[in-house]
Amino acid sequence: MTEPARTTLVLTRADVRSLLSMPRAVEAVEQAFVAYATEAAQMPPKVYLSLGQHGGDFRAMPSYLARRSAAEPPIAGVKWVNSHPDNPKKFGLPSVMGIYILSDPETALPLAILDGTLLTAARTGAAAAVASRALSKKQPKTMGFVGCGIQARTMWEAHRAVFGDSLRIIGADSDPAAAEKFAREVGGTVGSVEAAAGCDIVNTSTPGRAPAVRSAWVKPGAHINAMGADAPGKQELDADILDHAKVVIDDHHQATHSGEVNVALEAGTFTEDRIHGSLGDVLAKKIPGRSGETEITIFDSKGLAIQDVALAWVLYQEARSRGVGAALSIVL
Ligand SMILES: NC(=O)c1ccc[n+]([C@@H]2O[C@H](COP(=O)([O-])OP(=O)(O)OC[C@H]3O[C@@H](n4cnc5c(N)ncnc54)[C@H](O)[C@@H]3O)[C@@H](O)[C@H]2O)c1
Repeated sequence: MTEPARTTLVLTRADVRSLLSMPRAVEAVEQAFVAYATEAAQMPPKVYLSLGQHGGDFRAMPSYLARRSAAEPPIAGVKWVNSHPDNPKKFGLPSVMGIYILSDPETALPLAILDGTLLTAARTGAAAAVASRALSKKQPKTMGFVGCGIQARTMWEAHRAVFGDSLRIIGADSDPAAAEKFAREVGGTVGSVEAAAGCDIVNTSTPGRAPAVRSAWVKPGAHINAMGADAPGKQELDADILDHAKVVIDDHHQATHSGEVNVALEAGTFTEDRIHGSLGDVLAKKIPGRSGETEITIFDSKGLAIQDVALAWVLYQEARSRGVGAALSIVL
Protein backbone atom coordinates (compact mmCIF):
# COMPACT_ATOMS: atom_id res chain seq x y z
CA MET A 1 0.00 0.00 0.00
CA THR A 2 1.36 3.45 -0.88
CA GLU A 3 1.73 5.99 1.89
CA PRO A 4 -1.25 8.40 1.78
CA ALA A 5 -0.60 12.10 1.12
CA ARG A 6 -0.28 14.27 4.23
CA THR A 7 -0.14 17.69 2.65
CA THR A 8 -2.52 19.71 0.52
CA LEU A 9 -1.24 21.04 -2.77
CA VAL A 10 -2.20 24.63 -3.57
CA LEU A 11 -2.34 25.24 -7.33
CA THR A 12 -2.80 28.75 -8.69
CA ARG A 13 -4.33 29.65 -12.04
CA ALA A 14 -0.82 29.90 -13.50
CA ASP A 15 -0.01 26.43 -12.14
CA VAL A 16 -3.19 25.00 -13.64
CA ARG A 17 -2.37 26.62 -16.98
CA SER A 18 1.12 25.09 -16.98
CA LEU A 19 -0.22 21.64 -16.02
CA LEU A 20 -3.11 21.48 -18.45
CA SER A 21 -2.92 18.95 -21.27
CA MET A 22 -6.03 18.99 -23.47
CA PRO A 23 -5.59 15.43 -24.76
CA ARG A 24 -5.53 14.19 -21.15
CA ALA A 25 -8.45 16.45 -20.21
CA VAL A 26 -10.55 15.04 -23.05
CA GLU A 27 -9.86 11.44 -22.01
CA ALA A 28 -10.54 12.16 -18.32
CA VAL A 29 -13.82 13.92 -19.05
CA GLU A 30 -14.93 11.12 -21.38
CA GLN A 31 -14.19 8.56 -18.64
CA ALA A 32 -16.22 10.63 -16.19
CA PHE A 33 -19.29 10.66 -18.48
CA VAL A 34 -19.03 6.88 -18.83
CA ALA A 35 -18.62 6.46 -15.05
CA TYR A 36 -21.75 8.53 -14.47
CA ALA A 37 -23.73 6.50 -17.01
CA THR A 38 -22.60 3.22 -15.45
CA GLU A 39 -23.32 4.25 -11.87
CA ALA A 40 -19.65 4.52 -10.95
CA ALA A 41 -20.09 8.15 -9.94
CA GLN A 42 -22.10 10.26 -7.54
CA MET A 43 -23.24 13.77 -8.29
CA PRO A 44 -25.79 15.35 -5.95
CA PRO A 45 -27.62 18.38 -7.37
CA LYS A 46 -25.76 21.67 -7.41
CA VAL A 47 -26.52 23.82 -4.34
CA TYR A 48 -27.26 27.52 -4.95
CA LEU A 49 -26.79 30.27 -2.39
CA SER A 50 -28.57 33.35 -3.73
CA LEU A 51 -27.12 36.69 -2.74
CA GLY A 52 -29.40 39.10 -4.55
CA GLN A 53 -28.51 41.84 -2.09
CA HIS A 54 -24.84 41.41 -3.10
CA GLY A 55 -25.58 41.10 -6.81
CA GLY A 56 -24.61 37.46 -7.27
CA ASP A 57 -24.72 33.88 -6.05
CA PHE A 58 -22.55 30.97 -4.94
CA ARG A 59 -22.83 27.39 -6.16
CA ALA A 60 -21.41 24.23 -4.57
CA MET A 61 -20.82 21.29 -6.92
CA PRO A 62 -19.74 18.06 -5.20
CA SER A 63 -19.02 14.78 -6.94
CA TYR A 64 -17.35 11.40 -6.57
CA LEU A 65 -15.83 9.02 -9.11
CA ALA A 66 -15.26 5.35 -8.26
CA ARG A 67 -12.13 3.55 -9.51
CA ARG A 68 -11.98 3.86 -13.32
CA SER A 69 -8.82 1.76 -13.90
CA ALA A 70 -5.84 0.39 -11.97
CA ALA A 71 -4.18 3.81 -12.25
CA GLU A 72 -7.32 5.84 -11.49
CA PRO A 73 -8.30 5.51 -7.83
CA PRO A 74 -11.60 6.76 -6.39
CA ILE A 75 -11.65 10.52 -6.04
CA ALA A 76 -13.99 13.18 -4.67
CA GLY A 77 -14.21 16.95 -4.65
CA VAL A 78 -16.28 20.08 -4.64
CA LYS A 79 -16.26 23.28 -6.67
CA TRP A 80 -17.21 26.49 -4.90
CA VAL A 81 -17.98 29.01 -7.60
CA ASN A 82 -19.88 32.26 -7.95
CA SER A 83 -21.56 34.46 -10.50
CA HIS A 84 -21.29 38.21 -9.81
CA PRO A 85 -22.01 39.83 -13.19
CA ASP A 86 -21.25 43.39 -12.00
CA ASN A 87 -17.85 42.55 -10.52
CA PRO A 88 -15.77 43.84 -13.47
CA LYS A 89 -17.55 47.23 -13.44
CA LYS A 90 -17.84 47.61 -9.66
CA PHE A 91 -14.57 46.16 -8.40
CA GLY A 92 -12.38 45.40 -11.39
CA LEU A 93 -12.70 41.69 -10.50
CA PRO A 94 -13.82 38.80 -12.73
CA SER A 95 -17.52 37.91 -12.58
CA VAL A 96 -16.69 34.22 -11.97
CA MET A 97 -13.99 33.05 -9.53
CA GLY A 98 -14.08 29.38 -8.66
CA ILE A 99 -11.94 27.23 -6.40
CA TYR A 100 -11.82 23.47 -6.32
CA ILE A 101 -11.13 21.19 -3.34
CA LEU A 102 -9.99 17.70 -4.33
CA SER A 103 -10.19 15.06 -1.60
CA ASP A 104 -9.09 11.47 -1.09
CA PRO A 105 -12.31 9.56 -0.33
CA GLU A 106 -10.31 6.89 1.55
CA THR A 107 -8.61 9.16 4.09
CA ALA A 108 -10.73 12.32 3.54
CA LEU A 109 -7.51 14.37 3.28
CA PRO A 110 -7.86 17.41 1.03
CA LEU A 111 -5.29 16.59 -1.64
CA ALA A 112 -5.42 19.90 -3.44
CA ILE A 113 -7.00 23.33 -3.56
CA LEU A 114 -6.86 24.78 -7.04
CA ASP A 115 -8.14 27.50 -9.31
CA GLY A 116 -11.59 26.40 -10.40
CA THR A 117 -12.14 28.96 -13.15
CA LEU A 118 -9.61 27.71 -15.66
CA LEU A 119 -10.56 24.18 -14.54
CA THR A 120 -14.18 24.94 -15.54
CA ALA A 121 -13.26 26.37 -18.93
CA ALA A 122 -10.96 23.42 -19.69
CA ARG A 123 -13.45 20.74 -18.68
CA THR A 124 -16.16 22.55 -20.69
CA GLY A 125 -13.98 22.56 -23.80
CA ALA A 126 -13.11 18.92 -23.21
CA ALA A 127 -16.80 17.95 -22.91
CA ALA A 128 -17.62 19.64 -26.22
CA ALA A 129 -14.81 17.77 -27.96
CA VAL A 130 -15.90 14.46 -26.41
CA ALA A 131 -19.42 15.11 -27.73
CA SER A 132 -18.13 16.05 -31.19
CA ARG A 133 -16.01 12.89 -31.33
CA ALA A 134 -19.05 10.79 -30.39
CA LEU A 135 -21.73 12.57 -32.40
CA SER A 136 -20.36 14.56 -35.35
CA LYS A 137 -20.35 13.11 -38.84
CA LYS A 138 -17.32 11.07 -39.86
CA GLN A 139 -15.09 13.71 -41.40
CA PRO A 140 -16.04 17.19 -40.27
CA LYS A 141 -14.24 19.88 -42.25
CA THR A 142 -15.50 23.14 -40.78
CA MET A 143 -16.13 24.34 -37.23
CA GLY A 144 -18.03 27.48 -36.28
CA PHE A 145 -18.05 29.37 -32.99
CA VAL A 146 -21.01 31.51 -31.99
CA GLY A 147 -19.58 33.49 -29.09
CA CYS A 148 -15.81 33.92 -29.05
CA GLY A 149 -15.07 34.20 -25.34
CA ILE A 150 -13.35 32.05 -22.74
CA GLN A 151 -15.20 28.76 -23.38
CA ALA A 152 -14.70 29.12 -27.15
CA ARG A 153 -10.94 29.05 -26.66
CA THR A 154 -10.91 25.84 -24.62
CA MET A 155 -13.41 24.25 -27.00
CA TRP A 156 -11.07 25.06 -29.86
CA GLU A 157 -8.06 23.63 -28.00
CA ALA A 158 -9.94 20.45 -27.10
CA HIS A 159 -11.22 19.93 -30.66
CA ARG A 160 -7.67 20.38 -31.87
CA ALA A 161 -6.61 17.60 -29.50
CA VAL A 162 -9.26 15.33 -31.07
CA PHE A 163 -9.37 16.39 -34.74
CA GLY A 164 -5.90 17.90 -35.29
CA ASP A 165 -5.49 21.11 -37.29
CA SER A 166 -7.68 20.02 -40.18
CA LEU A 167 -10.86 21.95 -39.30
CA ARG A 168 -11.46 25.35 -40.95
CA ILE A 169 -12.61 27.74 -38.24
CA ILE A 170 -15.20 30.54 -38.45
CA GLY A 171 -15.70 32.77 -35.41
CA ALA A 172 -18.82 34.92 -34.93
CA ASP A 173 -19.49 37.26 -32.02
CA SER A 174 -21.83 40.17 -31.37
CA ASP A 175 -18.66 42.05 -30.44
CA PRO A 176 -16.63 42.24 -33.68
CA ALA A 177 -13.37 42.87 -31.79
CA ALA A 178 -13.88 39.63 -29.80
CA ALA A 179 -14.42 37.66 -33.02
CA GLU A 180 -11.34 39.19 -34.64
CA LYS A 181 -9.12 38.48 -31.65
CA PHE A 182 -10.36 34.89 -31.48
CA ALA A 183 -9.94 34.31 -35.22
CA ARG A 184 -6.38 35.64 -35.05
CA GLU A 185 -5.54 33.40 -32.09
CA VAL A 186 -6.91 30.21 -33.64
CA GLY A 187 -5.93 30.87 -37.25
CA GLY A 188 -9.53 31.11 -38.43
CA THR A 189 -11.71 33.72 -40.11
CA VAL A 190 -14.41 36.04 -38.83
CA GLY A 191 -17.89 35.40 -40.18
CA SER A 192 -21.54 36.08 -39.50
CA VAL A 193 -23.48 33.93 -37.02
CA GLU A 194 -25.14 32.45 -40.11
CA ALA A 195 -21.76 31.40 -41.52
CA ALA A 196 -20.58 29.92 -38.18
CA ALA A 197 -23.91 28.10 -37.75
CA GLY A 198 -23.50 26.58 -41.22
CA CYS A 199 -20.39 24.58 -40.24
CA ASP A 200 -20.11 20.82 -39.72
CA ILE A 201 -19.45 21.37 -35.99
CA VAL A 202 -21.07 24.39 -34.34
CA ASN A 203 -20.04 25.49 -30.85
CA THR A 204 -22.31 28.01 -29.17
CA SER A 205 -21.10 29.70 -25.99
CA THR A 206 -22.92 32.97 -25.44
CA PRO A 207 -24.79 34.10 -22.32
CA GLY A 208 -27.87 34.58 -24.55
CA ARG A 209 -31.50 34.60 -23.46
CA ALA A 210 -32.83 34.67 -27.02
CA PRO A 211 -31.96 32.34 -29.89
CA ALA A 212 -28.83 33.45 -31.76
CA VAL A 213 -28.80 30.50 -34.19
CA ARG A 214 -31.66 30.12 -36.67
CA SER A 215 -32.86 26.78 -37.89
CA ALA A 216 -32.43 27.67 -41.59
CA TRP A 217 -28.70 28.26 -41.05
CA VAL A 218 -27.93 24.78 -39.72
CA LYS A 219 -26.82 22.30 -42.40
CA PRO A 220 -27.94 18.66 -42.59
CA GLY A 221 -25.35 16.51 -40.82
CA ALA A 222 -24.24 19.28 -38.45
CA HIS A 223 -23.33 18.63 -34.85
CA ILE A 224 -24.01 21.46 -32.38
CA ASN A 225 -22.42 21.79 -28.97
CA ALA A 226 -24.88 24.09 -27.17
CA MET A 227 -22.77 25.11 -24.19
CA GLY A 228 -23.99 28.59 -23.25
CA ALA A 229 -27.35 27.88 -21.63
CA ASP A 230 -26.70 26.95 -18.01
CA ALA A 231 -29.46 28.73 -16.13
CA PRO A 232 -33.26 28.90 -16.44
CA GLY A 233 -34.26 31.28 -19.25
CA LYS A 234 -30.96 30.95 -21.14
CA GLN A 235 -31.21 29.79 -24.76
CA GLU A 236 -29.01 29.96 -27.86
CA LEU A 237 -30.81 27.90 -30.51
CA ASP A 238 -34.06 28.49 -32.34
CA ALA A 239 -36.51 26.04 -30.71
CA ASP A 240 -37.25 24.74 -34.21
CA ILE A 241 -33.71 23.26 -34.38
CA LEU A 242 -34.52 20.99 -31.44
CA ASP A 243 -37.51 19.59 -33.35
CA HIS A 244 -35.32 18.44 -36.24
CA ALA A 245 -32.39 17.13 -34.28
CA LYS A 246 -31.24 14.26 -32.09
CA VAL A 247 -30.89 15.95 -28.70
CA VAL A 248 -28.30 14.47 -26.35
CA ILE A 249 -28.00 16.00 -22.88
CA ASP A 250 -25.28 15.82 -20.22
CA ASP A 251 -27.63 15.11 -17.32
CA HIS A 252 -31.41 14.87 -17.42
CA HIS A 253 -32.17 16.84 -14.27
CA GLN A 254 -29.73 19.64 -14.96
CA ALA A 255 -30.43 19.98 -18.69
CA THR A 256 -34.21 20.09 -18.30
CA HIS A 257 -33.88 22.59 -15.46
CA SER A 258 -31.43 24.98 -17.06
CA GLY A 259 -29.75 23.60 -20.20
CA GLU A 260 -30.54 24.59 -23.81
CA VAL A 261 -33.85 22.68 -23.75
CA ASN A 262 -35.18 24.50 -20.65
CA VAL A 263 -36.89 27.38 -22.48
CA ALA A 264 -38.57 25.19 -25.12
CA LEU A 265 -39.73 22.77 -22.39
CA GLU A 266 -41.16 25.63 -20.37
CA ALA A 267 -42.92 26.99 -23.48
CA GLY A 268 -44.26 23.52 -24.31
CA THR A 269 -42.74 23.51 -27.82
CA PHE A 270 -40.44 20.61 -26.88
CA THR A 271 -41.17 17.62 -24.65
CA GLU A 272 -38.88 15.50 -22.47
CA ASP A 273 -39.67 12.36 -24.44
CA ARG A 274 -37.87 13.99 -27.41
CA ILE A 275 -34.57 13.85 -25.52
CA HIS A 276 -32.55 10.98 -27.01
CA GLY A 277 -30.50 10.31 -23.84
CA SER A 278 -27.27 11.32 -22.19
CA LEU A 279 -23.80 11.64 -23.67
CA GLY A 280 -22.60 9.09 -21.09
CA ASP A 281 -25.21 6.61 -22.34
CA VAL A 282 -23.98 7.10 -25.92
CA LEU A 283 -20.33 6.70 -24.86
CA ALA A 284 -21.15 3.61 -22.78
CA LYS A 285 -22.98 2.25 -25.87
CA LYS A 286 -26.26 1.95 -23.96
CA ILE A 287 -27.97 3.95 -26.71
CA PRO A 288 -26.93 4.66 -30.31
CA GLY A 289 -25.29 7.93 -31.34
CA ARG A 290 -25.77 9.58 -34.74
CA SER A 291 -27.78 7.68 -37.33
CA GLY A 292 -26.60 8.71 -40.75
CA GLU A 293 -24.59 11.55 -42.27
CA THR A 294 -27.50 13.98 -42.63
CA GLU A 295 -28.92 13.85 -39.13
CA ILE A 296 -28.45 16.98 -37.00
CA THR A 297 -27.17 16.21 -33.51
CA ILE A 298 -27.12 18.53 -30.50
CA PHE A 299 -25.17 18.15 -27.29
CA ASP A 300 -26.98 20.20 -24.65
CA SER A 301 -24.38 20.85 -21.96
CA LYS A 302 -25.05 22.55 -18.68
CA GLY A 303 -21.72 21.48 -17.18
CA LEU A 304 -21.36 18.69 -14.63
CA ALA A 305 -19.44 18.34 -11.38
CA ILE A 306 -18.07 14.96 -12.55
CA GLN A 307 -16.19 16.79 -15.33
CA ASP A 308 -14.53 18.98 -12.69
CA VAL A 309 -13.43 16.17 -10.39
CA ALA A 310 -12.06 14.12 -13.30
CA LEU A 311 -9.91 16.97 -14.56
CA ALA A 312 -8.86 18.13 -11.08
CA TRP A 313 -7.47 14.63 -10.47
CA VAL A 314 -5.47 14.72 -13.71
CA LEU A 315 -4.03 18.13 -12.79
CA TYR A 316 -3.20 16.96 -9.27
CA GLN A 317 -1.35 13.90 -10.53
CA GLU A 318 0.58 16.00 -13.02
CA ALA A 319 1.45 18.56 -10.33
CA ARG A 320 2.76 15.86 -7.97
CA SER A 321 4.86 14.25 -10.67
CA ARG A 322 6.30 17.59 -11.85
CA GLY A 323 6.71 19.11 -8.38
CA VAL A 324 4.40 22.04 -9.19
CA GLY A 325 2.45 23.92 -6.48
CA ALA A 326 2.88 24.69 -2.79
CA ALA A 327 2.42 21.67 -0.50
CA LEU A 328 0.91 22.98 2.75
CA SER A 329 -0.15 21.32 5.95
CA ILE A 330 -3.62 22.81 6.22
CA VAL A 331 -5.62 20.29 8.20
CA LEU A 332 -2.91 18.37 10.10
N1 LIG B 1 -21.97 24.25 -20.38
C1 LIG B 1 -20.98 24.50 -19.55
O1 LIG B 1 -20.36 23.59 -19.00
C2 LIG B 1 -20.55 25.93 -19.31
C3 LIG B 1 -19.36 26.17 -18.62
C4 LIG B 1 -18.94 27.49 -18.47
C5 LIG B 1 -19.70 28.53 -18.96
N2 LIG B 1 -20.88 28.26 -19.59
C6 LIG B 1 -21.72 29.34 -20.14
O2 LIG B 1 -21.19 29.65 -21.43
C7 LIG B 1 -21.48 31.00 -21.75
C8 LIG B 1 -20.22 31.69 -22.26
O3 LIG B 1 -19.23 31.69 -21.25
P1 LIG B 1 -17.80 32.39 -21.49
O4 LIG B 1 -17.04 32.18 -20.22
O5 LIG B 1 -17.21 31.95 -22.77
O6 LIG B 1 -18.26 33.92 -21.60
P2 LIG B 1 -17.48 35.12 -22.28
O7 LIG B 1 -18.08 36.35 -21.74
O8 LIG B 1 -16.00 34.92 -22.16
O9 LIG B 1 -17.86 34.98 -23.85
C9 LIG B 1 -19.15 35.12 -24.35
C10 LIG B 1 -19.04 35.75 -25.73
O10 LIG B 1 -20.34 35.68 -26.35
C11 LIG B 1 -20.53 36.90 -27.07
N3 LIG B 1 -21.97 37.05 -27.32
C12 LIG B 1 -22.94 37.43 -26.46
N4 LIG B 1 -24.14 37.38 -27.07
C13 LIG B 1 -23.93 36.96 -28.35
C14 LIG B 1 -24.78 36.69 -29.45
N5 LIG B 1 -26.10 36.82 -29.36
N6 LIG B 1 -24.22 36.27 -30.61
C15 LIG B 1 -22.88 36.13 -30.72
N7 LIG B 1 -22.02 36.36 -29.69
C16 LIG B 1 -22.54 36.77 -28.52
C17 LIG B 1 -19.90 37.96 -26.20
O11 LIG B 1 -19.60 39.14 -26.91
C18 LIG B 1 -18.64 37.22 -25.70
O12 LIG B 1 -17.53 37.43 -26.55
C19 LIG B 1 -22.08 31.61 -20.49
O13 LIG B 1 -23.49 31.62 -20.61
C20 LIG B 1 -21.66 30.65 -19.40
O14 LIG B 1 -22.54 30.68 -18.30
C21 LIG B 1 -21.31 26.99 -19.79
